[in-house]
Amino acid sequence: MSDSNSSLRKAASLCCKKIHIGAAILPKPLFEYDTIDVANIDVVKDDNSIRIDDNQHTIEPIKNATVSYPSQYPPLHSISDTNEIYPTKKLPMYAQVLIREFNSVVIEHHLKWSPLCHTLPGPINASSPSDRIGRYDFYHVDAMVDFALQHDMEVKGHTLIWHVTSPVEFLNTLDAKQLEEEMRRHIFTTMGHFRGRIHMWDVVNEALAPDGSLANNIFLRKIGPCYIEKAFRYAHEADPSAILIYNDNKVEGGVDGPNPQKAEGYYKLLQSLVKNKVPIHAAGMQSHFNAGGVGVNRVPSPFAVKQQIHRIGNLGLKVHFSEMDVRVSQLPLNLQNLAQRQIYHDIIAAALTEPAFDGVWLWGFTDRHTWVKNFYYDDSPLVLDEMYQKKEAYIGLLDALRTLNVSGIVGGGVNLNSDVDSENRPWGYKWITNDCEADKSQQTIAFGDERPDWVHESQNP
Ligand code: XIL
Repeated sequence: MSDSNSSLRKAASLCCKKIHIGAAILPKPLFEYDTIDVANIDVVKDDNSIRIDDNQHTIEPIKNATVSYPSQYPPLHSISDTNEIYPTKKLPMYAQVLIREFNSVVIEHHLKWSPLCHTLPGPINASSPSDRIGRYDFYHVDAMVDFALQHDMEVKGHTLIWHVTSPVEFLNTLDAKQLEEEMRRHIFTTMGHFRGRIHMWDVVNEALAPDGSLANNIFLRKIGPCYIEKAFRYAHEADPSAILIYNDNKVEGGVDGPNPQKAEGYYKLLQSLVKNKVPIHAAGMQSHFNAGGVGVNRVPSPFAVKQQIHRIGNLGLKVHFSEMDVRVSQLPLNLQNLAQRQIYHDIIAAALTEPAFDGVWLWGFTDRHTWVKNFYYDDSPLVLDEMYQKKEAYIGLLDALRTLNVSGIVGGGVNLNSDVDSENRPWGYKWITNDCEADKSQQTIAFGDERPDWVHESQNP
């Protein structure tokens, strides 16, 4: 069957409930041409089609992209100015595919504390700290937010309080009271600037250690465990209409998954925030999966993920897959597409059977721009390849979204009642690497280490 008008965004629009289908974005590929554009390699043309299995999937070109394309970063301005100021230009492929496929974006890097006022933005290629120490400059983020809004895409703000990308040299000079005041100032400055344009925020990110306790970071050390509650209350004060989210990783599988302690700690933290009437509305599960992972790094089953979403939903919270990508390079080549397609399909189809599940944001959308290559190793974790061609993973995600379309089959045929099938074979048995006795040192992560899990995993693949 030809999928000529197939797109993730269209499939999401046809779902029987509102589903966010989003992607993390970066300013450089969004606003600047790269080789694929300059060489005029038109990867999105009428007769372009790719064969996957026995289905023909045709990429629909962006017809008459008549939107404004800033020839340079626009000055800080409101969205209404955009159309008058800049001549219409062909959008970079990255931008064309983004607006075709997604109804939401999340700012991958530039809306974090340090990039906003301590190291970026300066020119897009700035690698050295800018001279703007202490001053906020929303230049890059304004450009991305305005672009998204211009294309009817919602924006998720990521992330207000995260020790990994906070200006810790500066924060270390403060006492507890001063640090709390700086935290409040940052939240008000940032949310205030985007109020009315960004309606959902990752307020606190990765506050948990691998054993489910609170991670040893500067906020915990100086302010105490209440820093999380305080951050949410400040965020609510800054924008009472905003959807406020707690975001973390390796929590997706719940107590039956590969990280039961952290998943339980995540649930208990959410439960306590709700019990204390903290203004929190959603829980983000990052969903950075490694198809070749073993032990604590293996992929949780759809059944385990569904159970985790279900119990968080019972707290009255929505649940997101907030940063999904699926690494495959540690699998044999002949299993990579199969595994990646099944993971994207089965886990999202299972999540969509839960009323609390609100949507999925991919951490990037093309293998041409993935953080994995910088922070792990060479891999192809996303649903479009380096030439923006749809991969089998794309079809898996598209089919998962379609389970909620009219005539779709809710659950997509995935086993939602156990981890094994009727012949007692574990989910993913065709590609999962058995939990060999991997070197334990590769699996344990120092207790309370401030650095996030994914830093360790990248060193011990
Ligand atoms: C990563 C970005 O992808 C990189 O571009 C940036 O340099 C570092 O942060 N969990 C998170 C994200 O919450 O913010 C991280 O994103 C990936 C891990």
